[in-house]
Amino acid sequence: MNAHSFVLYRSETSLTPKSDVTRAMIGCARRSNLEQSLTGFLHHDDGIFFHWLEGDGDNLSLTMERIGRDPRHRNLVTLASGPLPQRRFPDCPMGYSTQSDYSLLRWMADHAVTVREQSAYAMALLSFLEERAGTPGHCQTGSQPSRSIWRAKASM
Ligand SMILES: Cc1cc2nc3c(=O)[nH]c(=O)nc-3n(C[C@H](O)[C@H](O)[C@H](O)COP(=O)(O)O)c2cc1C
Repeated sequence: MNAHSFVLYRSETSLTPKSDVTRAMIGCARRSNLEQSLTGFLHHDDGIFFHWLEGDGDNLSLTMERIGRDPRHRNLVTLASGPLPQRRFPDCPMGYSTQSDYSLLRWMADHAVTVREQSAYAMALLSFLEERAGTPGHCQTGSQPSRSIWRAKASM
């Protein structure tokens, strides 16, 4: 049985979306994630990163330690984490989108999302990131995950 884990966090950054520095960082992360069999999606919105990262628990912990020490962002808050029955971004070693592609605030308004609890917030973020991953150009792989919103809950 191939057990996976996930982490969903947010952090603050001064990096400019789609700048050369950001692109280089995403490229390095994608290569490393491919080696570690990690998958997930990073969205960069108004100075905030939202990142879902999933895979083998040990690889995930080691990578999260490195991410936590990275000076290119700060105030990292883990919104949800735990075991995962199956990957949510199986074809996405390091998906990436920005506010100019689709802002999270706009998406929440378009989907009439109301949030009262942190787990609901995390579920909404997962749905947003999955939808971004289903939009061509953000995962840099051929296949696209299913886009249904509010589908089967991850272990949160
Ligand atoms: C928001 C953010 C997300 C990142 N995501 C990943 C990632 O998914 N995988 C990864 O290997 N590195 C990621 N990095 C880069 C790591 O923080 C780190 O720079 C990289 O793993 C190299 O680590 P090292 O310099 O200690 O070898 C991310 C950095 C930031 C700021």
